[in-house]
Amino acid sequence: MLKVDVSSALSFLPQDWFTARQAALEEARVKLENGSGAGGEFTGWVHLPRDYDKEEYARIKAAAAKIRSDSDALVVIGIGGSYLGARAVIELLASPNYNLKKKDGPDIFFAGNGLSTDALLEVIDLVKDRDFSVNVISKSGTTTEPAVAFRIFKALLEEKYGKEGAKGRIYATTDKARGALKGLADREGYEEFVVPDEVGGRYSVLTAVGLLPIAVAGIDTDALMAGAAEAMEALAQGGADNPAWQYAAARHALYEGGKKVELLACYEPSFRFFAEWWKQLYGESEGKENKGIFPASVEFTADLHSMGQYIQQGERLMLETVVRFDQSRGEFTIPHDPENVDGLNFLAGKNLSFVAEQALRAVTLAHVDGGVPNLRVDLPRRCERAVGQMIYFFEYACGLSGYLLGVNPFDQPGVEAYKNNMYALLGKPGYEQQKAELEARL
Ligand code: PA5
Repeated sequence: MLKVDVSSALSFLPQDWFTARQAALEEARVKLENGSGAGGEFTGWVHLPRDYDKEEYARIKAAAAKIRSDSDALVVIGIGGSYLGARAVIELLASPNYNLKKKDGPDIFFAGNGLSTDALLEVIDLVKDRDFSVNVISKSGTTTEPAVAFRIFKALLEEKYGKEGAKGRIYATTDKARGALKGLADREGYEEFVVPDEVGGRYSVLTAVGLLPIAVAGIDTDALMAGAAEAMEALAQGGADNPAWQYAAARHALYEGGKKVELLACYEPSFRFFAEWWKQLYGESEGKENKGIFPASVEFTADLHSMGQYIQQGERLMLETVVRFDQSRGEFTIPHDPENVDGLNFLAGKNLSFVAEQALRAVTLAHVDGGVPNLRVDLPRRCERAVGQMIYFFEYACGLSGYLLGVNPFDQPGVEAYKNNMYALLGKPGYEQQKAELEARL
């Protein structure tokens, strides 16, 4: 089971950092387990690794097998919670270079996660002359970015395969009853998957939202779900040994002690999008009522040569959480060089993972000396089971953290402000007065 190590943060923590929060953690645990806290109607993810819809899960696998057999590319359309989880897991477990690798599944492209004309045109260009399918994912079915992208890929598929042919290549993941995408999918007869009512976007990676693209990438979803289920069992037991309790308590105590930014760091470049997923999870869950740790991320060792300066000596406002995988998937031995121009022959014969481990140890000590408390999340290896555990761990610790902070960890009222302004400026019917007011201000 995943472990949390707080030893390199202890010198920054008050003695009672855990005991002072134990009662609040127990309260938060009960709220998560029975959905009795703020936003409790969105705690469906808590028991999801056990209570998921088995019939739908089988359909997800069947759809993934079909896509793998009839498509050279899959376009996954979605944004935020309907995007980041799938990409995080595919990059972490398959590879950020997944599309470049020799494989027996299709390339996977992501679209509808922004409003860049150039990015959209590029994906169109990359798939239009190949056999492709589309998985459009939107819980509300009304989000502008994916809706615009879907119009385009739907038209492209219909032009290429005819309306009937396109129908067999479009997979819609949306609300079970409501929304524009649901209506369209029903009318057109697309295969549909459900974003459960009680699971918010950023907690939805282990539903069809994440699982269909992940399965198309050839990742073992059974092992992913099994890992999450192990974490669910383990984290439901409260107490000082619970890693989610340790993480939530430590970061909350550090926040109260003035650490307002949390850097999530990892020594695996494939972790980059997992950190993006984590940032949404924590940023949207905690950042409200003028409170919350600002979640940021760095990739080590690359960013030690850029952000390292700030981390070591800039404003002392951050804590660092390092995700560490114990074993690499392969091994690389540093060769001997008879000329030894770089003076590195003292490393000849050593494994690169040994060097990386010494880097991690050196960085931890330096950052602690520089005033940056370090928390560590330890996992055995970069495999489905461990990643399933980690997903659930971060979700559960996030729920606990939100309740410790006294906010609703499951809403996101703040994301509506820009959307309303944008609808008004774009001339959406019903927004006429707001448009005039905004235009006057601009
Ligand atoms: O977490 C969230 O609620 C958001 O990030 C949403 O997932 C995102 O805005 C996409 O929404 P939808 O799935 O309704 O298109």
